This record gives sequence, structure tokens and C-alpha cells, in this order.
Amino acid sequence: MKVSVVFMLILLSTLNFAQIDLRTFDVTKFTGDIPLVSLQRFLQTDEYVSVEGNVYKISANKKFLSKSEIKPELLSDGNFVGLLAMTIDELRSYDGKKNPAMVAVNGVVYDVSNSTRWRTGNHQNRHNAGEELTYDILKLSPHGSKLLERVVPFAVLVFSPEQLSRYSGLNKNKAYVAAFGVVYDMTQSKTIKNGLHFGYPAGNELTFEIKQQPGHEAMLSRIYPIGLLVFDEKNLGNFDGKSVPVASKNISAYKSFVQVGNVVYDVTGTNWQEKFGVNPEALAGRDYTSQFECELQESCSHEHSDASVLKEFAKVGFGIL
Ligand code: HEM
Ligand code: HEM
Repeated sequence: MKVSVVFMLILLSTLNFAQIDLRTFDVTKFTGDIPLVSLQRFLQTDEYVSVEGNVYKISANKKFLSKSEIKPELLSDGNFVGLLAMTIDELRSYDGKKNPAMVAVNGVVYDVSNSTRWRTGNHQNRHNAGEELTYDILKLSPHGSKLLERVVPFAVLVFSPEQLSRYSGLNKNKAYVAAFGVVYDMTQSKTIKNGLHFGYPAGNELTFEIKQQPGHEAMLSRIYPIGLLVFDEKNLGNFDGKSVPVASKNISAYKSFVQVGNVVYDVTGTNWQEKFGVNPEALAGRDYTSQFECELQESCSHEHSDASVLKEFAKVGFGIL
């Protein structure tokens, strides 16, 4: 009996099917434990294939495969690279005309090109593919989100800080805000007037600001999570403690973000350098993964920092490959 249980466990650990089912993916719970692979990087890397948004390093003659087209044993942890990530700008070109029709709901991009009701890019004369449609499917459609079971998840929806800034709630643009690494749609909120929420401008990353009102984070559950905020080297570099001011009349400080592993943390106004064990003059806006890597490796060339200090800082976004 005991032997068969052990055997089953070994079997289960070697037969690992798709790592994440994007149908049940909750962007508000994403910890950054899995790398995000940009669509651009994915398309440029010959040996990468995607199975419902899970990227694997396997040789195959197609980039996109359904679960039934691939031997389950190939979908192992060893071959898993990360989750495919599509930006809001890339989504726009998947409108059923230039590229296959896709739509995004709650941070997941779905391929709707096999649906006769979407194929041409238009749905019931009301909605177009290539768009973020969380509010629309939840509040305006007669059917709600359950019909997404009929279509296939394709990627996670991501925004760069520049892309986010366009959703300022002004000039008929939607009002999006980011907090704790998640982009939310506040367009429908009565608390947004002329792009401002009690003086706080939409289109911005507002983790530091919301934390100034203890308990106010709970309000985020009233709006719609629609994606993840991601930083490349250049975006991260802007948050160097000298360039992006805190969006508050009462606090004159500049935002400092640093990356460790796949996660970007807000270290604004703290003695993070001491906690990270780096030079007190060290600049924010950079990747400090190497400072913590010793924990994972056997040998270490420098005095290493305890990764538990990272828990003191709020996460504001994720790195992207
Ligand atoms: C007022 C707006 C909308 C109307 C009137 C509408 C209407 C419909 C109808 C009548 C169907 C066919 C239902 C069936 O076969 O049982 C359908 C299917 C579907 N709708 Fe909508 N819809 C709306 C908005 C949306 C939005 C915003 C989304 C966002 C993703 C969406 C996603 C889908 C999907 C995925 C299906 C299933 C397609 C298939 O079976 O091939 N709909 N919709
Ligand atoms: C001094 C700063 C702030 C003040 C005075 C303030 C005030 C308020 C008030 C009065 C409400 C309505 C509460 C209710 O309906 O019971 C609210 C809701 C909300 N606040 Fe703030 N807020 C501040 C900062 C922020 C920041 C920085 C964020 C960041 C995103 C934020 C996000 C939200 C959200 C998501 C809601 C819920 C909106 C809705 O239900 O439509 N707030 N806030």
C-alpha cells in the first residue's frame, strides 16, 4: 500500500500538466513566483511553445499548441518557462482583422477566433475584439463571464507604466490605476471626477499613496482587476528616487522602486539600502536580485541579505522576460 502511494506521488510529479490554468487565474493573488514571458520574446525564441498561455521550451513545429496536440510528459516542470504576457497595446492589434480575434477579461487574454460570434472581430454589433472587456462582460452582457469556458485562454494581460498613463480618465479615456502590482479599472467609479480620485490622478501607480490611508486597500475589491503592472529595465530606471513624485499634496518625495527576482518593490522613503546590505548611496530604479541570490546558491562572494526583509516592502509590479 505504502509503496503504491509513493509510486503514485512519483508519477504525479513527473506527469505535470499545464502549470497554471489561466481560466482560474486571479491577478490579485499573483506573487511573481512564475516568470512572465513577453509575447515579443516568445515569438522571437524558436524553441518556445505556448499551451493555453503556459510557455514551454520544447521543440515543435508550431508555436501555439492545444493540450491534445502535445504529449503530457513534455509539459513537465523542467520544460516550463513561465506565463505568456501580452501588453494592452499588443492586444489592440488582435482585433480579428490584422490578427486573430482576442479579448481580455480580469487580466486574462482569451483567443475568441474560433467562435463564430467573434471571428470577424465584432460581437453582437456591440463589442470589438482587441479590447479589455471586464466591465462589459460582467455588467453589460446578458450572459456574464461563464461563457468564457467556451474559448481558450491565451496570455496574461500586462501594462507598462507608460501604457497605464494613457488611461487617465480624461478626454474619454478610461480611468485605470495600479496598486500592489495589479491594474484596476476605476472608470465606472463615482469617486472619479475629471480623472481624479480625491486629488489622486488615474493612470498612475498608487501603492504608496493608498497605504497612507490605513485600511483603504480594502476598497480595491470594489473595482475591476484587469491586468498586471510590468517593468522593463527602462521603466524601472524611472523610479530612481529622483524622477517620479509621490502623487500627494502633503508628501514631497520621489518614488523609489527596486527589483528582486521577478518582483518590483516600493522602497520609497525607507532605509532599504541598509536592509538590502548595499552601499547607503546605492540607487533605486535597479535590479538587486544578486544581493539575495546567495540564499539559493551554496557559495557566496559577498555578505548576503536575508530575503525575509523583502516582506516589509509592498510589491508594485513584476519584471518581464
Ligand atoms: C451587450 C453585450 C453582449 C451581448 C448582447 C452578447 C450576446 C451573446 C450571445 C447571444 C451569445 C450566444 C450565447 C449562446 O450561444 O448561448 C454570446 C456568446 C458569447 N459572448 Fe457575448 N454578448 C455580449 C457581450 C460580450 C462580451 C463583452 C464578451 C467579452 C468577452 C462576450 C463573450 C462571449 C463569449 C466568449 C461567447 C461564447 C461564444 C461561443 O460560444 O462561440 N460577450 N454573447
Ligand atoms: C487622501 C486620499 C484618499 C481619500 C480621501 C479617499 C477617499 C475615498 C472615499 C471617500 C471613498 C468612498 C468610500 C465609500 O464609498 O464608502 C473612496 C473609495 C475608493 N478609493 Fe479612495 N481615497 C483616497 C486615496 C485613494 C487612493 C490613493 C486609491 C488608490 C487607488 C484609492 C482607491 C479607492 C477605491 C478603489 C475606492 C472604491 C471606489 C468605488 O467604490 O467606486 N483611494 N476613497
